[in-house]
Amino acid sequence: MVILMTVLFLILATFFFRKNNSRKNLNLPPVVKSWPLVGALYMLAKDPVNLIRKNYQKHGSVFTVKVFGQSITLLIGPEVSKHFYTAPDSELSQDELRQSTIPMFGPNVFIGAPTELRQQQTQFLLKGLRPQLLRCYVDQIVAEVQDYFSKWLDCGTVNLVHELEHLITLTSSRCLLGRDVRNNLNEEVTALVEDIAGGLRPIKEQKTLLARHGLKIDFDILKEMDVLYRCIKEALRIGITPVIIPRYCHKNFTVSTKEGNEYTIPKGHIVATSLVAAHRVDHVFKDPGRYDPDRHLPAGQKDMPSQPFSFIAFGGGRHTCPGEAFSYLQLKIIWSYLIRNFDLDLVSAFSVGEWDGTDELLVHYKRRHLSI
Ligand code: HEM
Ligand SMILES: *[C@@H]1O[C@H](CO)[C@@H](O)[C@H](O)[C@H]1NC(C)=O
Repeated sequence: MVILMTVLFLILATFFFRKNNSRKNLNLPPVVKSWPLVGALYMLAKDPVNLIRKNYQKHGSVFTVKVFGQSITLLIGPEVSKHFYTAPDSELSQDELRQSTIPMFGPNVFIGAPTELRQQQTQFLLKGLRPQLLRCYVDQIVAEVQDYFSKWLDCGTVNLVHELEHLITLTSSRCLLGRDVRNNLNEEVTALVEDIAGGLRPIKEQKTLLARHGLKIDFDILKEMDVLYRCIKEALRIGITPVIIPRYCHKNFTVSTKEGNEYTIPKGHIVATSLVAAHRVDHVFKDPGRYDPDRHLPAGQKDMPSQPFSFIAFGGGRHTCPGEAFSYLQLKIIWSYLIRNFDLDLVSAFSVGEWDGTDELLVHYKRRHLSI
């Protein structure tokens, strides 16, 4: 699926922006060696994550991949990403590349919609995500979640991906009724799965909250679920599907790498960042393949300070995801409910960091009441 999307992105990008970028006097980024014409298309289509990872090791945080003459420049890691996230749309724009964001959107959301209509849709959506409204959604989501899990038996085996897809569709459409919701289910489900892997501390946290507040769940109690929050965040870091965030470059700009190299990215390039690659940069995330929710402890409580634009599951800067708070709210409600009411055992083979979000994921559940 992701591979298909990548190919589609590259083909479309190629047709829209066929141009020649000459290497003149400017210090352009290193170009990935590949077959002429077809360029890196084959490599990208086959295994985009691997292509990006290999060339990151070889060239560092900035390099260019050519497909049918179109240059796609990857910017990986916080040092080279500031302009990418903060530049005005007139310099780095999304519009030309709408098609390529397909992996991030549901099938009928935004795609193909003329800009004006899309802006209206976004405005409408944003209204529903206003912070003061989030507080009101808690009861609705809790009711939906209770209702959903009341249909589970006393014990059984389910495909959790499938179950949560259903549930998240229900809760999202209940709160944001009539609003189009982006389809990021893969990411969300991955998050949930990773929480099982790191489940002991979230369980302890739920016990503490049960002792403090009883069964009640409200906005403020959700705010106390710090451990769960960090588990979800870490899951989004490590397990996010290999999405590329692209922009079209309308104006030359310069980046400096950690090693002190300066590169000019010229007008006409497609500029992109890879979530998977950025989340595995090892001078930012120590031992990046390890699931470690404590990376997300507040500054002062951990040894590695976080830099802006290092955790980019929700993008960053100008186009940062407006659905972030809502997503955490929803995931915390679902997961605290699951932890409190079910014993869960993973049946499918599962390896942290290697799951691509598309497989089925079998989980055995057994009803229980978490005792204090
Ligand atoms: C775990 C769940 C989610 C993830 C991982 C996620 C991820 C992202 C990312 C990476 C971007 C930036 C794309 C870019 O820079 O081109 C983005 C933008 C966006 N997201 Fe989300 N998202 C999630 C949930 C949601 C929800 C629930 C909504 C709405 C109800 C939403 C609405 C949007 C919108 C409207 C944008 C576009 C913002 C802009 O272009 O200025 N997202 N999201
Ligand atoms: C932008 O970069 C191109 C080289 O790719 C160069 O020919 C051009 O002069 C640059 N434009 C500016 C305004 O620096």
